[in-house]
Amino acid sequence: MTNASLDRLLATLVLAMAATGLLTLWAGSPDAGWLFTVHDLLAGALAVAIGIKLRRSLPKAIGGRRWGRLAFALAVSFMAVVALTGGILWVGSGELLTVGRSTVLTLHAWAGLVLVPLVILHLLPRRWRLLRPSVGGVRKLPDRLLSRRSLLAGGALGLASIALWGGASFVDRLRGGARRFTGSRWLPAGAVPPATTFFGEPTPSVDLAVWRVLIRGRVAGARSFSLAELRALGETDHVAVLDCTSGWAIETPWRGVPLSAVLSAAGVADDAALVEVHSVTGWGASLSMEEAHKCVLATGVAGGDLPLANGAPCRLVVPDRRGLDWVKWVADVVVT
Ligand code: HEM
Repeated sequence: MTNASLDRLLATLVLAMAATGLLTLWAGSPDAGWLFTVHDLLAGALAVAIGIKLRRSLPKAIGGRRWGRLAFALAVSFMAVVALTGGILWVGSGELLTVGRSTVLTLHAWAGLVLVPLVILHLLPRRWRLLRPSVGGVRKLPDRLLSRRSLLAGGALGLASIALWGGASFVDRLRGGARRFTGSRWLPAGAVPPATTFFGEPTPSVDLAVWRVLIRGRVAGARSFSLAELRALGETDHVAVLDCTSGWAIETPWRGVPLSAVLSAAGVADDAALVEVHSVTGWGASLSMEEAHKCVLATGVAGGDLPLANGAPCRLVVPDRRGLDWVKWVADVVVT
């Protein structure tokens, strides 16, 4: 493999890993399980490509005394190793691994995202051919891709991917680990979930005496409900899995008012398509009308009242979505 091809492969793998990783944040339904498998499979290929790159470039950079470039290359490599090792440790550890208050899954994802601009800065100045391969090169591409050398290299990368993916999952099982298809580790069922927010934002103060949830947009007339009025629409019990993007999942009972009952009470338009749910903090989630009909505005969890840190007076329960869409401290529902 030429140096330019190796650089192209590295850039593509890093971008693909960051993109598939980011997409997992919105992949809560088992239909999207393939996305996690693709992400895991790309990891082995990236590990091998980084190994080859370091073996080729380090001696040259040291020999040529290009210290500035060497320092930057080492920073990029360090971040790549942190992202890769973090992901592998998360999958293979058999437990919910944390460093301080963050899970290793979250730290690996941040390292992966920081890696993207570093790789672009590292590769682009000298390798502008990454974006503009020569016309002759493009013409010869099919022959080069099907050459014996390329097929062998592709096969080796594929094997490394499968070995890393299968090996890490095997070690996880040996250590008694149980992950959901999203990679999240199961917490004991039936309990109140840990109270987390996406960026670690603090719990807001909500005054129950004045709190109301407002339903507006394509409804017969904007309406607001106090907690007692909301509950009077009829509460029901639902068991649902809350799957936090920081890497834990819990199946637990929720009590609350179906969102469809709230929308009907406000006179939702027959041809309304979208429902946006906003928190007092400004956080929000957008749902199709079909999804909205499966949601609940929960006022209770695990047999008790919903704690403030878990979103009281009410939070959205959205089956088949990751925790970041389970909007807490709901204040506003907009129908469009
Ligand atoms: C260049 C960036 C990234 C690299 C190099 C990377 C690397 C890895 C590795 C090595 C694994 C373990 C694979 C295995 O052993 O089977 C992994 C798993 C995972 N990564 Fe990443 N990752 C990156 C970015 C991200 C981002 C941005 C996110 C989310 C925001 C993310 C989410 C996940 C998840 C959820 C898993 C667990 C999947 C499972 O349990 O099957 N990754 N990653």
